Amino acid sequence: MAETMLAIQRLTKRFFRRHQVVEVIRDLELTVEKGTFFTLLGPSGCGKTTTLRCVAGLETPDQGEIAVGGRWVFRDRPWLDVPPHRRGIGMVFQSYAIWPHLSVFDNVAYPLRLKRPRMSFDAIRRKVEEALATVDLQEWTHHPSTLLSGGQQQRLALARALVSEPSLLLLDEPLSNLDQRLREQLRFELKRLQREVGVTTLYVTHDQHEALALSDRVGIMMGGRLLQVGDPETIYFRPASPAVAQFLGCPNFLEGTLLDAAPAGHTARLQTALGMWRGVLASSGQRGERCVMAVRPEAILRLSEGLEAEGNTIEAKVLVHNFLGHVHRYQIQLANGPIWLWETRERLPAAGIIGGYVPAQEVWVMPDSASSEEPAAGWEGLKGVLG
Ligand SMILES: Nc1ncnc2c1ncn2[C@@H]1O[C@H](COP(=O)(O)OP(=O)(O)OP(=O)(O)O)[C@@H](O)[C@H]1O
Ligand SMILES: [Mg+2]
Repeated sequence: MAETMLAIQRLTKRFFRRHQVVEVIRDLELTVEKGTFFTLLGPSGCGKTTTLRCVAGLETPDQGEIAVGGRWVFRDRPWLDVPPHRRGIGMVFQSYAIWPHLSVFDNVAYPLRLKRPRMSFDAIRRKVEEALATVDLQEWTHHPSTLLSGGQQQRLALARALVSEPSLLLLDEPLSNLDQRLREQLRFELKRLQREVGVTTLYVTHDQHEALALSDRVGIMMGGRLLQVGDPETIYFRPASPAVAQFLGCPNFLEGTLLDAAPAGHTARLQTALGMWRGVLASSGQRGERCVMAVRPEAILRLSEGLEAEGNTIEAKVLVHNFLGHVHRYQIQLANGPIWLWETRERLPAAGIIGGYVPAQEVWVMPDSASSEEPAAGWEGLKGVLG
């Protein structure tokens, strides 16, 4: 069985804000297996940084337990709070946090010089050179750190976090200060590096592309809670709720009623305002239950002339067209009102009604979140977004 590197239980953190207590993290449970890249993905203010700071020991939780590498680092009963530098953790935060008055070498050597018993200079030099080689900065060893570009400074911060060989690496939006091109390049390097070094990583971002591209597992966080944990393909194609689907960029939702019982992963028929949809995959549900259907823009296919689709068809008029390079994106008007998006490599005619269909396996049906406390993400929300 896989070894657990990080275990968080019942984690709760409250802050005082304008004479009020705000619960920023609520009863969070999370485990990260050794060697994996785990990402907390969620909107701004959902508590990602606070979670990371609790793990690092920079914030004291109000409740819960945190264990790193099978060793308690925080526990509310009986009280235990291991100081940050004894938790075996390396950190890189959003701001570069390199020391501008130190050289590249001294930036990386800094954490090693604090170690007791003292390390010899030769041992420090070897470790620093190794860490700088890992992030491909060896040529810069003796330069002032201020000469480095933004991307290089982030790599330097990474080298400094890795030099003590932490059992857990915490990365809080480390790429967010970089331009698009550098971000993508570093995203790629970060993944390679993590594989190479094999260090267990807890990564924080609000960027879904980054989370999907980098992670072995992703936890979707909203309002201080985890809504779903899974591998990238599961959370993308099989979101647990409309809120998760919407956060992962799915703009199309349609409410309906299940006409069959749908045990998890089985197909069912769904009665909607656009008629009956057959053979759609449902996350689970009772016959007669109100559900929400999610359809990704790229799943809507054009119905060519003479081709009969087996149900699940739509008729639409093009409202807006954007050329995105790799695809054309359309905002379209369906006969009975609602607005959908359509992504295709071919150009759709600008005038007249277009026939389309959605293969049943591309439709995903979830319980209606209106009945839960999650943020509403539905057809109405979509209308709001698209005007
Ligand atoms: N020291 C503090 N005192 C009071 N409130 C705080 C404190 N630190 C964080 N908060 C509040 O806790 C909530 C969560 O903050 P946190 O920084 O964890 O969010 P985040 O998910 O990292 O957001 P972002 O993506 O914008 O970085 C926010 O509403 C924030 O205002
Ligand atoms: Mg943050």
